[in-house]
Amino acid sequence: MANPKRKPLTSLDCRKTLIAPSILAADFANLGADVKAAEAGGADVIHVDVMDGHFVPNLSLGPGIVKAIRGYSSLPFDVHLMLSQPSRYIDAFVDAGADHITIHVESEGAVACTLEQIRSHGCSTGLSLRPGTPASSLAPYLNWIDLILVMTVEPGFGGQSFMAEQLEKIAEIRSLIDRSGRPIHLEVDGGIARDTAMRVRKAGANLLVAGSSVFREKGKLAEAISALRSAQ
Ligand code: DX5
Ligand code: ZN
Repeated sequence: MANPKRKPLTSLDCRKTLIAPSILAADFANLGADVKAAEAGGADVIHVDVMDGHFVPNLSLGPGIVKAIRGYSSLPFDVHLMLSQPSRYIDAFVDAGADHITIHVESEGAVACTLEQIRSHGCSTGLSLRPGTPASSLAPYLNWIDLILVMTVEPGFGGQSFMAEQLEKIAEIRSLIDRSGRPIHLEVDGGIARDTAMRVRKAGANLLVAGSSVFREKGKLAEAISALRSAQ
């Protein structure tokens, strides 16, 4: 059932450069304050990295954390499920306050059904690709997605180095989106900082996830976000 307060990413212009701080790099002992600061610092979206210790070798957070921080920001919550069985958790993250949910094309279960399940709640949908997964794997799902997330690191941990070989895939997916004529966001996640922001934008990305480069310098959130947005 659609929730009128929900802010799916379809409400944001997919031709604009948008910045999505990842709370994976925030202070987990003060998450509400960091989420509030990210909004005040000019973020467009809050990116929530969810890990199950199975699809990726790390555990991060669950629906309870999303519920706990929901009241600290009016920005869309962009939930990235790095889970083997995402369909089991869609309802819980929707109820916790997710506005958008991205699953991995490599996850178990019927991808199209899970995307439909997300959409049935009025949330926008996304598909993410590990670095080793080709863009062609997206082809069957283009009508069900509002966002494509290209991982520019191996998923599982923040603070890794940017994988420049993903630039070619970003450009390939940019062409795929443009040919489809559909308003699909092209999001990138992993090692995004001032230098790499320019390169991924030139390759065609419009939605930049950044954890370490935004949260690492306490009190300098606004400058870090602005630097990513204006990187030339
Ligand atoms: C990897 C995570 C990270 C995180 C951003 O699974 O998804 O990419 O969001 O990390 P940074 O910006 O610190 O590389
Ligand atoms: Zn992510």
